[in-house]
Amino acid sequence: MSPIFIANWKMNFLFDDALKTIQEIYTLLKTQNELDKLVIAPPLAYLSYMTDKYPQINYAAQDISLNKEFGAYTAEISAKMIKSAGANYAIIGHSDRRLHHNETSNNVRIKAENCIEAGVIPIICVGEPLESRQQKQHLAFVSQQIKESFPKISASSASQIIIAYEPIWAIGSNTIPTTTEIAEIARQIKDTLDASMVAKNISLVYGGSVNSSNCQEILKTEGISGLLIGSAALNPRELLSIIKGS
Ligand code: PGA
Repeated sequence: MSPIFIANWKMNFLFDDALKTIQEIYTLLKTQNELDKLVIAPPLAYLSYMTDKYPQINYAAQDISLNKEFGAYTAEISAKMIKSAGANYAIIGHSDRRLHHNETSNNVRIKAENCIEAGVIPIICVGEPLESRQQKQHLAFVSQQIKESFPKISASSASQIIIAYEPIWAIGSNTIPTTTEIAEIARQIKDTLDASMVAKNISLVYGGSVNSSNCQEILKTEGISGLLIGSAALNPRELLSIIKGS
């Protein structure tokens, strides 16, 4: 199966620059026949314009609301709403949200369940802080996050879930774990999930300082079937090199 590449634009680009960038990404990837490997998570305000103009691209929301029904939830957007605006994926529980917006694993689980109900594929992010790795608690830390964040689903829905391992210390730092360390976490995640009999269908991607120089090696890691890319995904040519490098 070919790998999946998730481009998380976070809070970057004014509207015109976002349009120029998506147009360049579309043109480059279409020419190279690589469009179907990519999922772009633009700032939400630009999403429906982009899904309308480039429906050939796959889109993700960077987060969704905890609430699934319409109501008095000012500024919130539900899974159903992002689906109706053309996104088939949603990033859930990114460490930016867990650290700065008090996102708990319990919230992540509810959001993931809302996604599945709405026909949106949740990309559930987990990953340990530096102290936890230094204290050799990283396996336990990630296992606990998985236990608490993973939705209650049947084994058949498991193929509709992506887990992203993003060690917090690797995000935006130009430091990445070794492939042995990534493989160790990949095994741990699958072992944690085995209990619920869904491990075999889950896709696991790595994120944190991915670029065109390290992507090939990371993708060779056992258990890893894609990449979540932050700052390198703001540059269309770098993004193309990462996807072509696979
Ligand atoms: P980075 O971000 O690639 O800039 O490290 C990854 C992420 O936060 O998803």
